[in-house]
Amino acid sequence: MSEKKFYITTPIFYANAELHIGHTYTLILSDILARYHRAVGDKTFFLTGSDEHGDKIVRAAQKVNLGPQAFVNENVAKMEALIRELGVSNDFFIRTSDKELHWPGAKKLWRALEEAGDIYKGTYKGLYCVGCEAFITEKELVNGKCVHHDTAPEHIEEENYFFKLSKYGSEIRRLMEEGVLKITPQSKVNEMIALIAGPSGESVLGDVSISRPERAIPWGIPVPNDPAQLMYVWCDALSNYISALGYGSDNEEKFKIFWPADIQVLGKDIVRFHALLWIAMLLSAKLPLPRELLVHGFVNSGGKKMSKTLGNVLSPGEFIAEYGKDALRYYFAREVTPSEDWDLTREKFKEVYNANLANGLGNLVSRTLKMAEQYFVGNVTGDVASVPAIRTKISAVEISGDVAGLNIPYIITNSILTRYHAYMSANEINKAADVIWELISHLDQFVTDFEPFKLVKTDKKAAENVIWGLLYGLREVAQMLIPMMPDTAKTILELVGASVSANGETAFSSKAPAEPLFKRKE
Ligand code: MSP
Repeated sequence: MSEKKFYITTPIFYANAELHIGHTYTLILSDILARYHRAVGDKTFFLTGSDEHGDKIVRAAQKVNLGPQAFVNENVAKMEALIRELGVSNDFFIRTSDKELHWPGAKKLWRALEEAGDIYKGTYKGLYCVGCEAFITEKELVNGKCVHHDTAPEHIEEENYFFKLSKYGSEIRRLMEEGVLKITPQSKVNEMIALIAGPSGESVLGDVSISRPERAIPWGIPVPNDPAQLMYVWCDALSNYISALGYGSDNEEKFKIFWPADIQVLGKDIVRFHALLWIAMLLSAKLPLPRELLVHGFVNSGGKKMSKTLGNVLSPGEFIAEYGKDALRYYFAREVTPSEDWDLTREKFKEVYNANLANGLGNLVSRTLKMAEQYFVGNVTGDVASVPAIRTKISAVEISGDVAGLNIPYIITNSILTRYHAYMSANEINKAADVIWELISHLDQFVTDFEPFKLVKTDKKAAENVIWGLLYGLREVAQMLIPMMPDTAKTILELVGASVSANGETAFSSKAPAEPLFKRKE
């Protein structure tokens, strides 16, 4: 067991609409890593939350005739309900409208930037995209519209406070190049450097506006000592990662323990806000930098971006209702390469579910437990030495030769657990999941090779050894599944009913499931 601390964050979600499949991917990816680190004994803090200020929210609230606070309260309630349904194990949920906890943190960070001499007043004249909640330039537009939102930006001219982002361009570049600031995948580092570097390598990063004049409906955090200005939503939102730990409050204990974040998970659309603005703010405030920004790709539907107009938006609720939350978590864990864009369709989901959950895992669990029940009333004893084929899978011992005196050559050359841990600690959850399914197929092969259902008629002890090995393997499968499919893992562990005696021998007091773990879908 380690003594390490582990702080992981998700971006905070705009409280203007319901979460879709893309958002739930961010959540599940982070949850799997948080659960893994908890399981290996790290002192873990997992944060998520909601981004509630800004014009985008005010306008969405007006459309449904609600005040902004009532509107975000409704959306946040739905968000938190879905988060529970997904089995997300966050330790805290931060809301940017929380005046007690979040506001003092955001204000303290602002004052730190001010003390560093990095805030000045100026006039902003240019374009603003409400969808992005960001100022954008002419050259970023396609046919006069924002590429992310397909809407024309607004022309604005107003008094703002500015942040000297320009001061930090070269330093951020150096930190990224030296790997002090780790961004995964590496391609994102190159993208960020391209934004920083001018033609002869100098930083061309400009300053950014970090406040907006107070609105008709004031909805945001007032700038310290100048309530006529509200903090720019991104500055407000980014500070959640430390305000949630009590930074700026009268108890900064958690902040001292957990900051800097070990992993900040985010989607590819918001890298520059994190890799440039957030990092510059931390440098300015002289706070430690996050150890890693883990960037994931986007989910598409049927090869196209999910959008209401195309009618291809997939809701997480639909998958949870039809397949259960662990099936959705399985899909996110195994069928997606985190750094890449991916595609989801109902057909593909069903196909994968049937092949790997109903047939693969589910079938192995029922077959094994039924044999244990039928031949041994569920009580199976044995020892690792009698089942060398299984032993190699779980303990990295490389052997070859006859197995269980049955004269069947069994050669295994790779260690499941070692590779599983290596992938999980490198955040490559899909590869870790592949390793689990590798063990599942070894166990299937084991049944095929040793045919315990025939063996039991001629040599009951040998059959018991084989079934003992299967149960042992299933227990390993379940333990590795804990971060990805927590309920399924728990069910399997209960069904196999392992107990370890004082002399280290594992015995099983198992029961067959009344119903299949994953019903096949036609
Ligand atoms: N509120 C900002 C983040 C502020 S963090 C200080 C925001 N919110 S969001 O609700 O739009 O997005 C939250 C997360 O969901 C982001 O990581 C974003 O990349 C992710 N996704 C949104 N749509 C997505 C897909 N279609 N696919 C995968 N992830 C997606 O940005």
